[in-house]
Amino acid sequence: MKIFGIFFILFLSFLSAKYLDTKSCAECHEMIHYEHTHSMHHNSSLFKDEFHRKIKEKTYPNSYLCALCHTPAAKNLRAVITGKEQPSQTKEQSDGVSCFYCHQINKVLITKHENINFYAFSPGSKPKFFGNLKNPDTSDKHKSDSTNKIYKNSQVCMGCHGKKFNKYDVEICNGLDEKGKTSDCISCHMPKFPGGTTKLNKRGREEYTSHEFLGIRSDEMIQKAVELSLKVLDKNSIQLTIKNKMGHSIIMQPMRLKFAQTEIVRFGKVVWKNFKKYPIEDKKATFTILFKNNDGKQVLPPSATGYKYKNNLKANQAKEIVYKVPELQKGDIIKSTWISYVLRPALAKTLKITDREMLKKYIGTKTKIVVK
Ligand code: HEC
Ligand code: HEC
Ligand code: HEC
Ligand code: HEC
Ligand code: HEC
Repeated sequence: MKIFGIFFILFLSFLSAKYLDTKSCAECHEMIHYEHTHSMHHNSSLFKDEFHRKIKEKTYPNSYLCALCHTPAAKNLRAVITGKEQPSQTKEQSDGVSCFYCHQINKVLITKHENINFYAFSPGSKPKFFGNLKNPDTSDKHKSDSTNKIYKNSQVCMGCHGKKFNKYDVEICNGLDEKGKTSDCISCHMPKFPGGTTKLNKRGREEYTSHEFLGIRSDEMIQKAVELSLKVLDKNSIQLTIKNKMGHSIIMQPMRLKFAQTEIVRFGKVVWKNFKKYPIEDKKATFTILFKNNDGKQVLPPSATGYKYKNNLKANQAKEIVYKVPELQKGDIIKSTWISYVLRPALAKTLKITDREMLKKYIGTKTKIVVK
């Protein structure tokens, strides 16, 4: 109840500033608007993300705790969270993680179970948006403030991407790095592109901060997830090293599936593979998290009391896997490929997911060596 008390205050202060919808930013921030509306932040609501909606329906059919991060700008946030009111397609909710919301977070409170976004209280009609621009030009639509350091050190991401535990104290996700710190999210996920921040560009800026927020759905980003390397140890064993190059664990959203597929090819034919049908047969090279309840039955995160399966690798850490293989011959090609799915294919089937983007197999980095 204490937590809801805090939210209630935030919620009240929120109401006093008039909500400017995402569409209204396009007039001046054309490129950023275009990128943002094609990103998962804009598509995070029940109305636009089929995967999210189906998990919600299965776990919390009557209340919507998820709103805190998935539709945080909702006017009736508290009522929606508790189930007193149902989510509806208002501007605030359809906008998902909106521009207006993100740019007014002024502090992120770190708590044991879940981090909390605090909001700037700006009475009057002109909202104040935080950012990092040097000497921001004035605008008749909003004030700008470049003094809040959470927009430099990436803390602004942590209200939603920080750690999250369920009510049984089971960790569901964790966006911290190998040292338990926040990595430089902004450098990797918001690269600078040529162009101005606004259409008019009165300050003559040469670059702006992109807002695509690419991640697991980007072929280009997937290439940068891990580094794979192979080595022949002796005639019957090979070693695969997987190094996580990201600023967070390989698995943050537990329903993802990421794995290394390793094969030995001889005269064009696969003579050995690290799994036959399902990647999970090779538990060391398959990264995902499955939850269970007290009876050992597989369940979705909210009702988990423990893990049924958990293989993860923290930021910047590497693991070595040794495989016993049939006797190697000169000319054998050993290759390994990194593969990712937005959600485990088996889960996609259970949920009857129809969005083709979600069913896609993303091919990441590849490596190969030839036996000498
Ligand atoms: C503390 C903030 C927070 C809360 C609360 C939260 N989520 Fe999320 N959710 C996230 C973040 C952040 C991501 C993106 C994670 C990633 O890609 O690693 C996400 C991603 C997801 C995804 C993957 C969506 C996709 O298309 O890739 C699903 C499904 C999901 N959440 C379901 C839920 C459900 C259901 C609830 C409520 C029971 C919920 N979440 C509550 C922060 C939250
Ligand atoms: C009428 C034009 C106009 C509209 C509409 C507009 N902005 Fe701006 N915004 C500007 C100008 C001008 C700047 C300063 C640009 C510069 O210095 O290069 C700016 C700067 C910003 C900054 C940077 C602040 C800083 O200190 O770094 C943010 C964030 C921002 N706008 C967010 C928004 C959001 C969110 C919306 C929609 C709700 C929006 N803007 C709508 C004109 C506008
Ligand atoms: C208000 C909550 C919130 C904040 C603040 C936030 N995010 Fe997100 N983010 C989400 C949610 C929710 C999703 C998942 C939406 C979905 O898939 O339905 C997401 C998705 C993403 C994704 C895409 C994942 C994919 O599916 O490919 C990336 C990358 C990301 N966020 C990075 C960031 C970074 C970097 C910051 C800080 C600058 C940030 N986010 C701030 C809630 C937030
Ligand atoms: C060194 C670069 C780097 C840093 C730092 C980094 N990321 Fe990532 N992140 C990546 C890459 C590359 C991917 C895409 C590959 C993947 O998803 O497997 C990714 C994926 C993601 C995803 C989607 C992952 C999934 O499985 O759904 C989210 C969400 C995300 N990052 C958020 C963040 C946040 C929040 C931070 C800061 C705490 C951060 N990232 C820091 C490189 C980075
Ligand atoms: C997930 C949070 C998030 C969302 C959603 C978001 N922004 Fe940003 N935005 C940031 C962060 C963080 C920065 C500062 C990055 C930096 O300068 O390194 C930023 C920077 C900016 C800037 C300064 C740009 C520059 O050239 O440096 C503008 C303008 C801006 N955002 C406008 C918008 C608009 C308009 C939208 C919606 C169409 C939007 N933002 C959505 C987090 C967000």
